Amino acid sequence: MEKKPVAAEAFAHGRVNLIGEHTDYNGGWVLPTAIPQKTTVHVTPREDGQVTIDAGADPKSGEHRHTAYRLGEEKATGQWWDYVQGVTSVLAKSGFSLKGFDLSIRSNVPEGSGLSSSAALEVSVLKAIRGSQNLDIPDMQIAQFGQRVENEFVGARVGIMDQMACSFAKSGEALFLDTRDLVYRNVRIPRESVELVIVNSGVTHALSSANGYNQRRAECEKACEALGVESLRELSLKDLPRVATLAEPMNRRAKHVITENERVKNAVTALESNDFSELGRLFFESHASMRDDYEVSVPEIDALVEAARFDSNVFGARLTGGGFGGSIVALVKAGTGASVGKKILEIYHRDPKRHGVLLVPEV
Ligand code: GLA
Repeated sequence: MEKKPVAAEAFAHGRVNLIGEHTDYNGGWVLPTAIPQKTTVHVTPREDGQVTIDAGADPKSGEHRHTAYRLGEEKATGQWWDYVQGVTSVLAKSGFSLKGFDLSIRSNVPEGSGLSSSAALEVSVLKAIRGSQNLDIPDMQIAQFGQRVENEFVGARVGIMDQMACSFAKSGEALFLDTRDLVYRNVRIPRESVELVIVNSGVTHALSSANGYNQRRAECEKACEALGVESLRELSLKDLPRVATLAEPMNRRAKHVITENERVKNAVTALESNDFSELGRLFFESHASMRDDYEVSVPEIDALVEAARFDSNVFGARLTGGGFGGSIVALVKAGTGASVGKKILEIYHRDPKRHGVLLVPEV
């Protein structure tokens, strides 16, 4: 007998990617971890086919955010509730017959900061609906549905890193994920030795808007075609001379992906052997590759990374997430995070037009 929907709550943490950027949609490797900030959602069943959403106060305008729609009438609007509409649309397309519900969302994952606020929303909403309506959906499929929300409903051709991280990553452990086979293992972050600092540049990005994200993905596909491979994952450092003969900018895009995949694997070895100088060096190298070869950084992010470089407590720093704004992540000596973050911001704010925020550690 079909069970009656019940009230349910679920949460998902945002994520920060330590290294392995723009590798996921190329079948490569990534190394994200959970951040303390999270999204919590609550679902209350309704008798009709309506979905109402209450998302609390807008962090910028303070305005109360709420909206409603009817199941089966989901339509992309370019607004925050598309992620919820996308969830019910993808579930319906996958054969689940949903009932209406009231959804309340509370989140302190900053939006547009490269910390996966949208994936945290998708994953928490999927888990709450699963709990409420007793749906048989394993966590891996939750992540895959979340990615489909982005790809099929929102129109962002993202990979699966963020949804996997929001479903599976734990704080204090990095999720070493092979995005082709969806095989992962946790790598401990020795918090007695190191901690993470995350600083938001104040420059927001939007993956769904006409930014370079989808364009980068298309450039990688072009590179694959020219090189006769299914995905750039199949290539390694020995293929770089061949990659260099590709037309601009495909040569540099492919070079970033190949070298970044190598860096992820080296980063895991460094983390597991407590070689933080090497790990930090890989962070800086990754940043340079994203800035020069993949061209997804912006001057504000570069300024934050340079500010971090001068601090002797910093092992390394880099742009994290999709880019075109967002945040940097720095690996620093344990116990110095708050002061390092403060110093980075002091330097950054020498330009009064900049509005950076220290997100981790939370002070
Ligand atoms: C965004 C996407 C991810 C990944 C990163 C870049 O966060 O959602 O799939 O591609 O950008 O590494």
